[in-house]
Amino acid sequence: MKKSVWRAIQDQWSTIPPVANADLTGQTVVVVGATTGIGFEAAKHFGRMGPTKPILACRNEEKGRAAASRIQEETGFERTEVRYIDLARFASVRAFADTFENESRLDILVMNAGIIALGARKESVDGWEEVLQVKDLSTSLT
Ligand SMILES: NC(=O)c1ccc[n+]([C@@H]2O[C@H](COP(=O)([O-])OP(=O)(O)OC[C@H]3O[C@@H](n4cnc5c(N)ncnc54)[C@H](OP(=O)(O)O)[C@@H]3O)[C@@H](O)[C@H]2O)c1
Repeated sequence: MKKSVWRAIQDQWSTIPPVANADLTGQTVVVVGATTGIGFEAAKHFGRMGPTKPILACRNEEKGRAAASRIQEETGFERTEVRYIDLARFASVRAFADTFENESRLDILVMNAGIIALGARKESVDGWEEVLQVKDLSTSLT
């Protein structure tokens, strides 16, 4: 939903809506870009809802594992899996999608990873402007 500037200002004084909750037993949840920021908080929130297969899709596996440990510390949830993906590399996106070949389901996909490209145009190894690459994962998964 697109908000007007006035509506956005008004929202600063609004009551925060209650945090949504659900039982995610049996479900597979993927958060792309879950090492930090919004993606990490989303993954932590999903952890509290007990998905059977929660996957943190990260370009830095060490940071991904650190995020999984923090989720365990902060929520007690232990099953978080870390898988490698670099959205700036088509080959990596395809390899990540291939890891789902034998999976029977994918219930929730949070396409969070992204960068704010400031300054000079930067090209990925595939020769595309980096900021545009976030679109490619959904194509590969369908
Ligand atoms: N925060 C805001 O106010 C705001 C406003 C509008 C839109 N957004 C959008 O919301 C999303 C999350 O924002 P945020 O503030 O939480 O960002 P953030 O703290 O910078 O986190 C971005 C996440 O994306 C990952 N990432 C970046 N490039 C990647 C790549 N090529 N492949 C895989 N993962 C990659 C980062 O991994 P590393 O840890 O490895 O860097 C990190 O986990 C972004 O798409 C952002 O553009 C944010």
